[in-house]
Amino acid sequence: MSDLKIRLATFDDLLVINDLYNYYVLHSTCTYQTEPSTPLERAEWFASHGGKHPVTAVEIDGQVVGWGALSRFHSRCAYANTVEDSVYVHHDLHRRGVGAALLADLVERARAIGHHTIIGLIDGSQAASIAVHSKLGFHPCAHLKEVGCKFDRWLDVIYMQLLL
Ligand SMILES: CC(C)(COP(=O)(O)OP(=O)(O)OC[C@H]1O[C@@H](n2cnc3c(N)ncnc32)[C@H](O)[C@@H]1OP(=O)(O)O)[C@@H](O)C(=O)NCCC(=O)NCCS
Repeated sequence: MSDLKIRLATFDDLLVINDLYNYYVLHSTCTYQTEPSTPLERAEWFASHGGKHPVTAVEIDGQVVGWGALSRFHSRCAYANTVEDSVYVHHDLHRRGVGAALLADLVERARAIGHHTIIGLIDGSQAASIAVHSKLGFHPCAHLKEVGCKFDRWLDVIYMQLLL
């Protein structure tokens, strides 16, 4: 997509990032969060990221239509070079290559930072997320059964891993 631009997110992007995310909180099992994030929670989340854990925004024609992030996988120090990825694209703009572009960009950023591995924690029913991770070379490495419950049903989580 020629007019697609991926850059580091700024504080000014956070309301859009939050709206993009909260749509899925309310409508999808792709996130196990069940209550929308407030702007304050989103600001705290953003502040907890930074150099080793970037947040990115993707623009089409100057409008932010998706975002990505590398977050700590675990708080214990020995996990410092392992990150979890997040990628969210506006629900009206799926299947146009935006998610793959965001994830490819995160993989390159993770390599440049010096991370060792990226893990996606994916709800087992999310074909799109599984597909985009597979496309970028992630492989399933764990399948946890019925560890989530949302919309009155038990949910399996698949871990997909990329060694860098
Ligand atoms: C997952 C998500 C980011 C994918 O973004 P997208 O822009 O729609 O995906 P792309 O157009 O880049 O597609 C990438 C690949 O996945 C495939 N794919 C996308 N959606 C798919 C679907 N619903 N079923 C099967 N394959 C799918 C595409 O065909 C493409 O593969 P190809 O290049 O071999 O054809 C998007 O669906 C989304 O925002 N979902 C909600 C949030 C989420 O689940 N995030 C991931 C967990 S953090």
